[in-house]
Amino acid sequence: MAFALTPEREKEVDELLSRYPTKRAALIPILWVCQRQIGWVSPEVIQWVADRLELTTAQVKGVVTFYTMFHQEPVGENVIWVCRTLSCDLRGAKAIQEHLEGKLGCHAGGTSEDGKFTLLKAECLAACGQAPMVQINDDYHENLTLEEVDAILDRYASEEAAQ
Ligand code: FES
Repeated sequence: MAFALTPEREKEVDELLSRYPTKRAALIPILWVCQRQIGWVSPEVIQWVADRLELTTAQVKGVVTFYTMFHQEPVGENVIWVCRTLSCDLRGAKAIQEHLEGKLGCHAGGTSEDGKFTLLKAECLAACGQAPMVQINDDYHENLTLEEVDAILDRYASEEAAQ
């Protein structure tokens, strides 16, 4: 099925295009707008963006596959990135990942059965001074203990946090 943005997001794209000297320069923010609508960058999104920005699908795909912030497969309502680089690992990131895997019933790279959470491993998220940390959607959660992970997960699992 062909991809289409909502009228509000179309306006957002028009506004973004007006800010850049070339259409191509707006590629990343426009991909971001599309991902916000359906949660991932599907082949239909790649085609839509390529048509809109007068690029080839290979050019768009090259950017999508380069940046880990773009999901190339459907994800859950919330995406949890567990930082597994040195500072976080030295301060318990492995235990946090395993704890989350146990709670969510899926391994890193997977999605919980209820579709609420996708668990992913991340390289350094630039909050090393507050290790260990996870990013959930757009928010950082730092200096974590396993108890805090449980409390945060409960918050996101509730209707309110899931939005
Ligand atoms: S090592 Fe985890 S934020 Fe840098």
